[in-house]
Amino acid sequence: MKRLEYRGYDSVGITTISGNKLFVKKDKGKIDEVHKKLDLDDLPGSVGIGHTRWATHGVPSLLNAHPHFDCTGQVAVVHNGVIDNFLELRQELAERGHVFNSETDTEVIPHMIEEHLRQGCSLAAALKHVTTRIHGTYAIVAMSTSEPDKIVCTRDGNPLVIGRGMNASYVSSDIPAFLPMTNRIILLLDGEIAIITATEVTIEKLSDGAPVVRDVVKISWTADQAQKGGFPHFMLKEIHEQPDAIRNTLRLRPDVIRRGAELLSDAARIFLLAMGTSGHAAMAARYMFSSLARTVPTFELASDFADIVGRTLTDQDCIVAITQSGETTDTISAVKYARSFGTHVLAITNVVGSSITRLADHVVITQAGPEIGVAATKTFMVQLTSLAQIALALGEMKGVLDADVLQDKRKALEAVPDIVSNVISLQEERARRLAGFYYDAPSLLFLGRGISIATAREGALKLKEIAYNHAEAYSAGESKHGPIALVEPGYPVIFVAPRDETHSKIVGNVMEMKARGASIVSVIDSSDQEIAHLSDHVFAVPSGVPAEFSVMPYVVPLQLFSYYVARRKGYDPDKPRNLAKSVTVL
Ligand code: F6R
Repeated sequence: MKRLEYRGYDSVGITTISGNKLFVKKDKGKIDEVHKKLDLDDLPGSVGIGHTRWATHGVPSLLNAHPHFDCTGQVAVVHNGVIDNFLELRQELAERGHVFNSETDTEVIPHMIEEHLRQGCSLAAALKHVTTRIHGTYAIVAMSTSEPDKIVCTRDGNPLVIGRGMNASYVSSDIPAFLPMTNRIILLLDGEIAIITATEVTIEKLSDGAPVVRDVVKISWTADQAQKGGFPHFMLKEIHEQPDAIRNTLRLRPDVIRRGAELLSDAARIFLLAMGTSGHAAMAARYMFSSLARTVPTFELASDFADIVGRTLTDQDCIVAITQSGETTDTISAVKYARSFGTHVLAITNVVGSSITRLADHVVITQAGPEIGVAATKTFMVQLTSLAQIALALGEMKGVLDADVLQDKRKALEAVPDIVSNVISLQEERARRLAGFYYDAPSLLFLGRGISIATAREGALKLKEIAYNHAEAYSAGESKHGPIALVEPGYPVIFVAPRDETHSKIVGNVMEMKARGASIVSVIDSSDQEIAHLSDHVFAVPSGVPAEFSVMPYVVPLQLFSYYVARRKGYDPDKPRNLAKSVTVL
């Protein structure tokens, strides 16, 4: 459960079965806090379910913490997702005498199971009946004293994966939870139910009860990758892992990249869909595709794609869905919607077997290894890496660049891991010092031009997410059309200003801000004396990175700055408030 805490951390609970009785410990708070109070390890039995919650229905509280129970206290359920029609179901159940203890949508499930068990159903049959009545997205795990050796689970739209160990079985919403015990996984798909004992896993289709034969898949992630390995936080460890993550992604099989590029070369229109940090990778990709393949895809937030573009989609279009988790509901819903028009889908994700992988014509699995910190860092790097590879392959396919130019770009991409490594080692101390200088700034402005708008946006997002400073990012070109009104003496403005075609224009923007007394921090090429002289503080990046790949090294000082601001303010960068690692609600 500790290894799953990054998915939700406002309350925690565990129920076990022993001697035909359920035992429960749960409360509001992070696992460590609740464990200190209740000793969560001290529960009898070897069959159990647990949950860390990210509140949707009902405030974080003891009563709203999972697991939830039926009236008899014999059935326990944990659930991720949202049951859209729970109010109607709750009312029906209440009319039949059921008593509810929480405000959650989840609690209808154990009460419905209770009714079916009373009618003589097995636990699995009872859960099957429940799925015919509930609408929404869910991953549900249930157990009952009537069948004390098993747990049953089902999913629709929310992740759930089964692990097979030696005389032990596990089920979890994410692989790292059981990685120290096993790396042998069985995927459970939407519309299937699994009946799990210590020694056996049986899967059936919900629709007709047909048995499903599913192979065990061995995954390459190791338990060590999901530990902090001497770093105080996962986020810092993951920032330091970025050079290797890029290197490993550069080793993706060329045919995997080429197939992705082929899908795009056949498309009438290309839409990049993503949310949050993945959206920033998409913004950077627009520049990469424009520069390397003379193609300009449209970037749309997945959450708004159907509303804005939806009605115009055809089977000639292609979507590139970028999602590290592969489970973001906004992105999955947009892709499902587009598929109904026959639109093609290329997915870029870091998680084997995640929901997006089953919706795409072709999948590129990035090689960051497990990312535990809620704020995305190394998964952002590998998204950029694979998008750069696809842009290069598309450029080659279309023959728009000279072979020599392409060759130089490829070589430059190969050099990025070492440059990122250099930035981490030379700029971390400076980031820590500047965090001490700016940590209490109520607001900061991040500016860039061209591809660096994506870098600026990612820098501002990181700071907001984990350090809770207000931060806004703009195109430096746009800054004088409004945001400059915010600037008064001492106001921090962060410039991302590599030496690319935007350089002379951004020098002008730095001067404008300086003339108004802004306190200027810039991320610049190490040879850039001009901006260095105009700035109060600089982060220097080695020369020679082409603009197309500049986001990778230039974002690193901003990741480190946010991390150290969060620490300076006493926040846990791995568990920012109100955020979860995969956002599986609309
Ligand atoms: C930012 C962050 C989020 C995610 C967003 C999309 O640090 O982690 O903004 O980038 O929720 O998540 P994925 O990539 O899993 O679709």
